[in-house]
Amino acid sequence: MRKIRLGVLGSGSGSNYQALHDAISRGELDAEIVMVMSDIPQARILDRAQAHGIPQAVIDCCGFASKFPESAQRSVAQTMLGTGADLICLAGFMRLIKRPLLDAFPQRVINIHPSLLPAFPGLAAWQQALDAGVTETGCTVHYVDEGMDTGPIILQEKVPVLREDDAHSLHQRIQQAEHRLYPRAVDLLRVRLLG
Ligand code: GRF
Repeated sequence: MRKIRLGVLGSGSGSNYQALHDAISRGELDAEIVMVMSDIPQARILDRAQAHGIPQAVIDCCGFASKFPESAQRSVAQTMLGTGADLICLAGFMRLIKRPLLDAFPQRVINIHPSLLPAFPGLAAWQQALDAGVTETGCTVHYVDEGMDTGPIILQEKVPVLREDDAHSLHQRIQQAEHRLYPRAVDLLRVRLLG
């Protein structure tokens, strides 16, 4: 079976991108990251990709603060198709994906979210978990549809909420789980898509 080719979209630090890259480097994930794209020119995810020698590009969202305009989605789809990407991995990408990109990669756009979906979709899911007083939360890798954190679930990992947790400590524990879960989920899809 050949390596699965990944296109990654992110808006921030890129620690989940880094986790995928590290799993590949350690020989634990038979994949190749073919392109990293960000809507934020200064995002650290682009610096990380540059340091790894991975092709990268900034997405022009035409001045919109949070919308992902159709023209930008078509351009991302075209770029990603041109790289031969098999799977698009959202890694902290902060805009909602709609038809142009989903149609170009049907059942091939996935996301990682810091809660056990369907609980706590949306922003700062770790804070939502603290506010709700739950004793367990976690992270989810799911297929992306047009909703916010609503697509079918692929894998989840549970994380305990400790009595002494604050937003920072809980977020960190969830992120450690995310960095294990995302490479596992991509490996699962590698077998599903290429096997
Ligand atoms: C992660 O917590 C992920 O669950 C959420 O955005 C965050 C991105 O973090 N969707 P990073 O940029 O991968 O460090």
